[in-house]
Amino acid sequence: MKVTEKESFPENFLWGGAISCSQAEGGFHDGGKGIDSQDLRYFDPSWSTEERKDFKNRRMYQKRFDTALKDTNDKMYPFRRGIDFYHRWKTDIDLFAEMDLKIFRTSIDWSRIYPNGDDEEPNKAGIQYYHDMFQYCHDKGIKVFVTILHYNIPVHLITKYGGWTNRKLIDFYLKYAHTLFKELGDVVDYWLPFNEINCGRFNPYNGVCVVQDDPNSDEKIFQSLHHQFIANALTVKMAHEMLPNSKVGAMIARFSSYPATCKPEDVLQSLQDEQYSNWFYLDIMSRGEYPKYMDRYFASKNIKIKMKPEDKNILKQNTVDFVSFSYYFSQVSTTDNNWEKTGGNLIVANKNPYLETSEWGWQMDPVGLRTTLNQVYDRYQKPIFIAENGLGAVDRLEKDDSIHDPYRIDYLKKHISAIKEAIKDGVPVFGYTMWGIIDLISCGSMEMKKRYGVIYVDQDDAGNGSLNRYKKDSFYWYKKVIDSNGDVLG
Ligand code: BG6
Repeated sequence: MKVTEKESFPENFLWGGAISCSQAEGGFHDGGKGIDSQDLRYFDPSWSTEERKDFKNRRMYQKRFDTALKDTNDKMYPFRRGIDFYHRWKTDIDLFAEMDLKIFRTSIDWSRIYPNGDDEEPNKAGIQYYHDMFQYCHDKGIKVFVTILHYNIPVHLITKYGGWTNRKLIDFYLKYAHTLFKELGDVVDYWLPFNEINCGRFNPYNGVCVVQDDPNSDEKIFQSLHHQFIANALTVKMAHEMLPNSKVGAMIARFSSYPATCKPEDVLQSLQDEQYSNWFYLDIMSRGEYPKYMDRYFASKNIKIKMKPEDKNILKQNTVDFVSFSYYFSQVSTTDNNWEKTGGNLIVANKNPYLETSEWGWQMDPVGLRTTLNQVYDRYQKPIFIAENGLGAVDRLEKDDSIHDPYRIDYLKKHISAIKEAIKDGVPVFGYTMWGIIDLISCGSMEMKKRYGVIYVDQDDAGNGSLNRYKKDSFYWYKKVIDSNGDVLG
């Protein structure tokens, strides 16, 4: 039998770039915005490298939360300033258009639409802001991919209701989603109800907006996640009813892992890491039910999730149209607690001696992306969108305003080649939004110097700088990739 090989990316492949509102917008005091959960994350630019890495400084505790709520010293809260995308979106989108971007992924700030989360009426200025932005994208030939919730919820939903632990959040979220479908449905092409839904497990404040002093609050976290799963399913239902042509996806942060050795215990550990960190979330949103392997996990941790009788059907009847994930690194699974550690997205990862790491210790693994794409498609048989992938690195602005970032080009080139291989393997990947198309505040480390963009933003960790934008070498490279539909990788 003759094996036919697709040579390259499909026609109309969605080459794009992604950002999130809290990491980019700023405009904290503008347009009737309320205070949201990310606005309260404190960062001190004088912290040492070790303090920056310290998970204690990234977690949200009650005392820190209460202090931040009253603190008007915006300088210490990088998500209040972002990169001023709120005021500069038009010229930034012009740069995206210059690169011939096909799709732009961003998130909506819930607190711009409903400043408190439980308000009766939406804030018209917030709706207008996003409508203008997305209409402009379309005018420039760029499709729009909206994340409805990329971590930040109005703080009032935390202080009054306890964040996602409270089932009422489902109703507030659905009201918010309804407003978006009604008001922005004509200018949005793809919807993602939740960014990296599995994040609630690894960073509860970001993911499920739980302020926690007790690190062992597993039951709270899984109860909150259940509420998000129901909100996700009901949002899929609502989108299909209100906007019959809409496409709604599921997203996780993909924690790929290999057994550290061929010792059977390591192989079992790897299977379980995959189940607990990745598959559990996609199984529910894509297959529509809680997987059996979680029964034993929940029992072992004495976790009891409160569900309503109708929840089972809600999940079963409203699965997503496509599956997406962020992919930055891979790690190994081992039963050896003393295994060497390194950095990772939201986690401390086990080291793989065969992989090189980024400056932040994340293990770069393009082959793992091909493997992952095959695994995800084998399991769900749905189209796949790579919602995030990129390299966080320190860049230098030269005297002539150029920025030479061969390391980023190399990272992206290898990952895009891996996607190409996966497509040849038969995986239906239909889009790729590289993360941080423009430099923004790092979500994990809160630093500005951890840059992902192909567009440089002149701002340092303390918020000093002109905020001017400059094209990096990778800008010109990515444009060529897009224009050749992935054939010319340089
Ligand atoms: C993903 C998030 O987890 O990783 C983004 O969706 C984030 O918000 C990205 O910025 C990269 O992580 P970091 O910590 O380097 O910003």
